Amino acid sequence: MAGVGGKFTQRLLVDAGIADGMRVLDIGCGSGDVALMVAALVGERGEVVGVDRDPSALAMACQRATEAGFANASFIEGGFAALDAGEAPFDAVVGRRVLMYQREPIESVAALAGRLRAGGLIAFQEHDASIMPASRVPMPLHSLVQGWMRETVMAEGANTHIGFDLHSIVSQAGLLVEEVRAEAIVMTAQQPYPAATIIRAMLPRILRHGVASEREIDIDTLEARLAEERQTAGATYLADMMFGIWARKA
Ligand SMILES: C[S@@+](CC[C@H](N)C(=O)[O-])C[C@H]1O[C@@H](n2cnc3c(N)ncnc32)[C@H](O)[C@@H]1O
Repeated sequence: MAGVGGKFTQRLLVDAGIADGMRVLDIGCGSGDVALMVAALVGERGEVVGVDRDPSALAMACQRATEAGFANASFIEGGFAALDAGEAPFDAVVGRRVLMYQREPIESVAALAGRLRAGGLIAFQEHDASIMPASRVPMPLHSLVQGWMRETVMAEGANTHIGFDLHSIVSQAGLLVEEVRAEAIVMTAQQPYPAATIIRAMLPRILRHGVASEREIDIDTLEARLAEERQTAGATYLADMMFGIWARKA
């Protein structure tokens, strides 16, 4: 939660206006990182409802909220339409890395806006990998590896350039955009992006989608090969770009 992305999320939530006493929906809450941040921000007078279609992630979110002592957090299994029509409107809807998985993101955001009170807030954090890694010197292995990640999630239906589309999606959903921001994750030769660890975790999916072969990836030597390229290039490079947006319902 406290990583680079977590700090960006925390700032986004605070700057967007998530504050004491608010009732907030966290859509696609996963294992609860964002819901727990929101629970702390809205306090005992507020409430956060996390929704996700993945029951195992939800179970983890529930457990973490209980362990952290957040009585103001609850979790519901389901999709964007999981909540009862009679549910009271929310002051805010938030989500992180979830719009990128929606086939019809404009319709999805519009449906969420229907859950907001008039003047309510929507805040999303997505990312954009389409121009990464960016560096002044060529880093072909890093480019190849980030390409494997990108192509795998694309094969699973994700939009990996959604950051650049966010303003248009949220505006077309009928909301009034207040701010769009982006922040790059900067890596140096001394502070590497854990690309080989991520590739190891994604390996079955990479192979299943035919994105790269086991031989090409050579997972047991990948970290060393990446480290060598970073040392040779002496490079500072951008590994990812996080985008944040917030908007209001008229
Ligand atoms: C990359 S994870 C992000 C989890 C969490 N928001 C975070 O940032 O830690 C995406 C989550 O969105 C959920 N998700 C994607 N589409 C969804 C949908 N239509 N309805 C409910 N959950 C969805 C997935 O199950 C997954 O838990």
